[in-house]
Order: sequence, then structure tokens, then C-alpha cells
Amino acid sequence: MKTLKFYCVVAILLTVSFICYHQYRQMSRLNSTIKVQKVKDVPDMTLTVRMSSNAKLLNYFYCTMLRSLTLYWSGQLGPLGLILDKESQDDHKFAENLQKYQEQLGISMSFYYEPLPKNERVLTVAKYKPPGYNRQLYSSFIMDEFISTPIVAWIDTDAKFTTPVTRDNILTGNKLRVKGMNTFQYSWIHGWNKLGIKMIGKPMPSDFMTFFPVYIWRDTITNCRNHILKYVNVSTIEEAYIHVGSQDSGIMSPVNIIMTYAYYFEKERYDWHIDIGNVDLKKYNKLHLVPGYELTSASLTPDLHVTLHAKHYKDANNTVNRQAYCAAANNTVLTMEQDIKQMCEPFKTSVMWVLFEFCNTVKQEHLTTWCKNKNKHCISMIQEHYDKTRQLVNKGVYSLDLKKIKVVEEAAHFHQTKCPPFL
Ligand SMILES: *[C@@H]1O[C@H](CO)[C@@H](O)[C@H](O)[C@H]1NC(C)=O
Ligand SMILES: *[C@@H]1O[C@H](CO)[C@@H](O)[C@H](O)[C@H]1NC(C)=O
Ligand SMILES: *[C@@H]1O[C@H](CO)[C@@H](O)[C@H](O)[C@H]1NC(C)=O
Repeated sequence: MKTLKFYCVVAILLTVSFICYHQYRQMSRLNSTIKVQKVKDVPDMTLTVRMSSNAKLLNYFYCTMLRSLTLYWSGQLGPLGLILDKESQDDHKFAENLQKYQEQLGISMSFYYEPLPKNERVLTVAKYKPPGYNRQLYSSFIMDEFISTPIVAWIDTDAKFTTPVTRDNILTGNKLRVKGMNTFQYSWIHGWNKLGIKMIGKPMPSDFMTFFPVYIWRDTITNCRNHILKYVNVSTIEEAYIHVGSQDSGIMSPVNIIMTYAYYFEKERYDWHIDIGNVDLKKYNKLHLVPGYELTSASLTPDLHVTLHAKHYKDANNTVNRQAYCAAANNTVLTMEQDIKQMCEPFKTSVMWVLFEFCNTVKQEHLTTWCKNKNKHCISMIQEHYDKTRQLVNKGVYSLDLKKIKVVEEAAHFHQTKCPPFL
């Protein structure tokens, strides 16, 4: 009897260890595949969009952002995080439909539901803008309450990716890359600057609403908000938004407020690429910077864009998508269909200058500044960039699979959203 018991115990122990060992093996295999796929050592980030499901935003989201994202943003860089309106049934339905496509699109998605602000005055602060617009502005100051990754990669629904994104587009060493532009010729910048000063006490060193995604350390948002509370002398960000926003037009630029905060208080955590235009640096500093915080030439070096702002970029013949795709696929191991080869023929000798543009209906580009006279330095930056994307395509990080475009279009059908042809 005793020996039988003994054998039973041994048998059970053996079975248990076998199962454990097997699971351990499976887990380590899983871990090792994840490691192999990782794009170098990029900290976790969430490509973050604040939106709601109205027809116009849905159209931009699917046709412009998501179709280009599915080609040029690797799921390995991080998930897509959508912050939606909690009380909206349509937003919940939108999420329910969209999440079904994660696997086919090769990107995981997280959905966050933001409740209405407690004080409804938030929704009418910027008098000439609709409630949804106000809510989105306000919401930018609390993104860190939803997103938990160390980096928030912030993008709007009307941004269009124009190239595969590499680590070097995001980070220099362990500093997040920031681009800025001298757009002080535009009247709205002065409105933004005025309200920004009332929020954080510092003037904009440049316009940061000139590139996407804007990579922000999540805790910069927390720190900025805490700074605002102290500076405005209120106890909630709602109060600050209402108090400052009820002055002037009420239209503020949260991205500029957060990045201006980063410039004055966390400069060393970011790698700054500010295009001050064809203006003398001394003069620029005198006009726009606070003494002791002047820009130096180290912060003025060129950097590429990986998106453009489609709402403000006229592209009558839809050339950008075609040229972008041809540039990404050029000289890779991918076998191109005959029709794509034909489509790429006219671009054989063209340079992807689009990577130095952001808008063209308002002038926001670097072709007349950093890249004046289409200089060699910019050309070699573009070439180097494509050398890196080519490696990523060849390693399978980017498949450039046009079938994914069809998947996005199918997802959009749920809302009766019909996209024009992508290529
Ligand atoms: C800040 O607000 C509190 C309460 O409203 C007030 O008592 C205090 O004087 C204010 N401090 C400053 C510096 O304005
Ligand atoms: C668009 O294509 C038409 C026909 O090929 C051409 O005449 C026109 O110049 C093009 N427009 C732009 C902005 O490239
Ligand atoms: C394609 O890649 C080759 C090799 O890097 C390069 O010389 C050529 O300029 C590229 N063509 C285009 C259109 O980018």
C-alpha cells in the first residue's frame, strides 16, 4: 500500500513537472520570438489619437491616418491607443468594429473612454469652436491618465504617414526627437502663444504644431499639468482650462503648451530640431526666447517628417501616396506586381522631398530653409533614411502589404465611409 502511494506521488510529481517544463519551454519560445521581432531598443509607446466617431473625423481616421499607418507604422513600435467619449454609444460601436481588425492590420489597439468633464463650461471655452473641439483640447492635458506607456506618440486623425518609421525618427540615443518651425508670421500663433503664457508663464520658442507624431514622455504631461495648476493657482486642470480659456478667443494649442513646457523645464530629455527659417539666430532669440533659455545652433539641425498634415496639404493628383510607396519599396526584397512597377516608373529619379514638408496650403515646409536649393545635406538625409527603412522592409518589420489597405477600407464600410483609391 505504502509503495503504491509512493509511486502515485512520484507519478503526479513527474506529470506536474513535465507540464511546467513544457509551459516554460513554450513561454521562453514566445519570449524569444518577441525579442527577435523588436525594432532595436525602443521604449514602449502608444500611438495616441483623441477622437470621436463623427462622420468627418471617421473619414480622416480611416482613409488618411489608418490606411497610411497600416503600411508605415510597425505594430512593434507600439499599439494604437484611441481615447473616445465615454458617454457616446457610437464611439463604443466604432471601437467594437475596429478592434476586430487588429490581427489583420498587424497592430494591437487599446480603447480608452474619457468621461465628460465635470464642469460643462469646458465645452464652450473656445467660443467659436464646437463642444467636441473644446473637449479635445482640454483632453490633451490629461492623456497621461489613460495612456500608461512611458511614451505618448500623439497624432491627429488627419495626419498621413509618408514613410516607414524607424527608431531614428523617434529617438536620438534616449532623447525623444522634437521638431519645431518658425511660423510666427501667422496670426493664430500669437493667439496660441498668449494663452500658453497664461497657462505656463513661458513663451513658445517655436511652433510645435508642425509635425506628427509628437513623441512625449508620459510624465512630461503630468509634470506640465502640475506646473499649470501651480502657475494658474487652481486645483484642477478643468479650472485652469476654463479660467485661461475664457480670455481672448479661448483657442489654445495644447501641443505647444506641453512642448514649450518641455523646452523650459525638461530640455535635456528631448532632442530639438527647430527650423527658425532664414532669420538670424541672435535676432530670433531676442524676439522669441527668454534670456537664459536661448536657442543654440545645436538645436537647429534638420530632421525629417514621417507624416504630413493632410487637411492642409493639397495633393490634387494623389501623388504623395504613390511616390511614398515606391520610395519605401524601392530596392527591397519585395517582389512588386507589374502594375506597381509601372506606377513607380515616373518616380525613378525623384527625391522624396515630401519628407521635408508638413503643410502646403499654409506654408509649413523646410524646402526654402533647411533644404534651400535642394542641398546635398538634405538629399543625403533622405537617402540615409531609406537605407534604414529598406533594412526594416527586408527584415519583415514592414511588409508594405497593400492587402491591409483593403482591410482598412472594409472596416470603414461599417460607417458607410468610402475612401478614394489609395494609390
Ligand atoms: C491662490 O488661490 C487661493 C485660493 O483661491 C488664494 O487664497 C491665494 O491668495 C492665491 N494665491 C496667489 C498667489 O494668487
Ligand atoms: C495632375 O495631373 C494632370 C494630368 O496629368 C496634370 O495636367 C496636372 O498638372 C497635375 N497636377 C499637379 C498638381 O501635379
Ligand atoms: C532606389 O534605391 C537605389 C539604391 O539605394 C537608389 O540609388 C535610387 O536613387 C532609389 N530610387 C528612388 C526613386 O528612390
